[in-house]
Amino acid sequence: MKYKLITAILFGLIFTTSTFGQQSTREVLTLEKNWRFHNGDVANGSSKSLNDSKWEKVTVPHDWAIKGPFDKEIDIQNVAIVQNGEEVATKKTGRTGALPYIGIGWYRNEFSIPNFNSDKKVILLFEGAMSEPEVFINGKKIGSWNYGYSYFYFDITPHILGTSENTLAVKLTNRELSSRWYPGAGLYRNVRLIVKNNESINQWGTFITTPLITSELAKVNIKTKVSGEQLTLVSRIKDASGKTVAIDSTAAIYGNEFEQNIAVNNPNLWSPETPYLYTSVSRLYAGNILKDETSTKFGIRKIKYEANKGFSLNDSIIKFKGVCLHHDLGPIGTAVNKAALRRQLTILKDMGTNAIRSSHNMPSLEQLELCDEMGFMFLAESFDEWAKPKVENGYHRYFETDAEKDIVNLVQATRNHPSIVMWSSGNEVPDQWGSEGAKRAKWLQDIFHREDPTRPVTVGMDQVEATMASGFGAVLDIPGLNYRVHLYDEAYKAFPQGLILGSETASTVSSRGIYKFPVVAAKMKEYDDFQSSSYDLEACSWSNIPDEDFVLQDDKPWVIGEFVWTGFDYLGEPTPYDTKWPSRSSYFGINDLAGLPKDRYYLYRSRWNIKEKTLHMLPHWNWEGREGEVTPVFVYTSYNSAELFVNGKSMGIQKKNNSSPTNRYRLMWMDVKYEPGTIKVVAFDDEGKAVAEQVTNTAGKPYKLVLEADKTQLDADGKDLSFVTVSVVDKNGIPCPTATNQLQFNVKGDGVFRAACNGDATSLEMFHLPTMKLFSGKLVVLVQSVSKAGEIELKVTGKGLQTAKIKITTKN
Ligand code: GAL
Repeated sequence: MKYKLITAILFGLIFTTSTFGQQSTREVLTLEKNWRFHNGDVANGSSKSLNDSKWEKVTVPHDWAIKGPFDKEIDIQNVAIVQNGEEVATKKTGRTGALPYIGIGWYRNEFSIPNFNSDKKVILLFEGAMSEPEVFINGKKIGSWNYGYSYFYFDITPHILGTSENTLAVKLTNRELSSRWYPGAGLYRNVRLIVKNNESINQWGTFITTPLITSELAKVNIKTKVSGEQLTLVSRIKDASGKTVAIDSTAAIYGNEFEQNIAVNNPNLWSPETPYLYTSVSRLYAGNILKDETSTKFGIRKIKYEANKGFSLNDSIIKFKGVCLHHDLGPIGTAVNKAALRRQLTILKDMGTNAIRSSHNMPSLEQLELCDEMGFMFLAESFDEWAKPKVENGYHRYFETDAEKDIVNLVQATRNHPSIVMWSSGNEVPDQWGSEGAKRAKWLQDIFHREDPTRPVTVGMDQVEATMASGFGAVLDIPGLNYRVHLYDEAYKAFPQGLILGSETASTVSSRGIYKFPVVAAKMKEYDDFQSSSYDLEACSWSNIPDEDFVLQDDKPWVIGEFVWTGFDYLGEPTPYDTKWPSRSSYFGINDLAGLPKDRYYLYRSRWNIKEKTLHMLPHWNWEGREGEVTPVFVYTSYNSAELFVNGKSMGIQKKNNSSPTNRYRLMWMDVKYEPGTIKVVAFDDEGKAVAEQVTNTAGKPYKLVLEADKTQLDADGKDLSFVTVSVVDKNGIPCPTATNQLQFNVKGDGVFRAACNGDATSLEMFHLPTMKLFSGKLVVLVQSVSKAGEIELKVTGKGLQTAKIKITTKN
């Protein structure tokens, strides 16, 4: 009753003020268009009078290096990678992707603020700038930031030229030997101008937590930092349908912070299966004048990490079925794109993934929004280096001066995302060795705790023995182990937390659709074609195959989950071919660089996706020249047993069993001899009934192209993407798994060709050119909308092949 009465009064207040308060509140302008870009240094690049009309016209987010060309000489690193156990330096080509990201770049944009006056405050927000951004307004340097992955902002009010035009210039510097992977280059995330009143809610000033949750009620705590005097804050909580479910008004301020505690009845809890989001609308009043209004999405969910019990979400124990992701989006580089991120998450969702780790840096805000909406838990990481270097020009140069402010910005900008359930202050930092390391771990963890008392902190540790000895591991809220499956038991006993996280696991290497014989487990295995086998038995000297992690995940209740290295291939780090040109992107991905699933996808899916069944057979069955030779067949399936047939002849029934990790999680027929034709697997349920089957046929010659789009309707916003998978089939419609035809792409109508990718880590074909070879019979074409609604046609042609076309519509 009491709640209803308060609600009624408050609704009255809001109604009155929105009628009388005519003052505008805040405007957020995303600076996307009309940027000018220059690759290289310019003496007077920030000057207002500079004529930049000859500079390249670009839109932001922008990655200046992704168009290549690939070049072996770029960022050659003559190093011994100590973390990988190397003792002698070797010449690493392609470690950072062999794309031209080194050097200086300038960006310029003109903007004006027509309603600017002395009551206004202007904030300039960067959601990431690669790297070492120096920011100038009207020729004057107003600030800089070192870490390319940080979000940061400046109050630029004193520099605004009234209502006339202002010149924003940003200088970026990327140094050689500054990264272990492709970091991208440029204004690769959004730049926003926020124009608000002097009396307003501070940037990242809202912090929402849910300290008490029962099925009847959740206590929502909202802290709001503001500027100004004599203010009243009204917070209105809306459910997912937009209906107001609670409202509170307060004038009691503690310093510059309001604190409200609001009850939400019968709360809908957020989880990966039910990603329910509430919105808190904050309105700030001076008297009855509305001064500011912001909206913050949040979730109501309970997280707990308990010794020996594990991690629980909303009181149910669950394990992280997670993947690590680098931030590049393959053929479009690091320029953030929501459609590309959404596609990645859609693929991962189908695999049964429930968590993402942003390795080894701050995630994009778009990725967090999508994880909130689509239901993924998130481990948000900050650094790959602390004070001790991994690469000569890495983050260690800034650690002492910048680590605190970088963490503060990470936490303040992202802490309302329900998806984030843990922070990571570092990955395999060499500071694990030596007595200073544990102190640094504590210092960083304390900053996280100060900024957000609700989530624990981990570090991905690879020097497990050192961290047991030094106390480093004991300091952490959650001890995270990178690889080292053989040390889990010892670490569990040595560390006082009573649980272990597989912060980074597997690092199995494979190339989509490539199979090598004989089929044997191997470490750091190299082949003449610089590919790795998709039988999924090859890993690095420090790493292992997925099955070994599965054993720990299944058998040890105190192991709280894993984050597999990696969900998708990424640019750079072409292990095991770090010294072999033209390898220029990773082999670690469960999906390739084009986002196409490798076989391993189905191995994880067979365990992780508990809603749908998996039945997947490998290899392909086109082995001309291998007739009569042993060609093992593996099946990744959620069923426990199956029978294999080669041209109708039974090869016997296989059952999962505990004789080895691979026998526990895969069905394997090791002695099959190749003969062209048909292989068929028939899966049985636990009663022995045949319930599903899969067939693979030997294909004839490539005959016809086939297109399949992930979306055939796009938003006409100039950003949305359709990912069209192109494959080739023979006369009978059978996919040709080894085809390498050179194809051409033509986009007509209200859209543009954005890029293509075939997932071949050794390809030097440029992503943005409308031609590419198939790799293992497939590639992906990215078609982008323009801002005009209409129809797009993609036509794909190849010599001697039947052409294919697809129509995509776009709407406003
Ligand atoms: C880990 C490291 C990752 C990546 C991976 C490759 O040691 O944290 O960034 O290098 O190895 O296996």
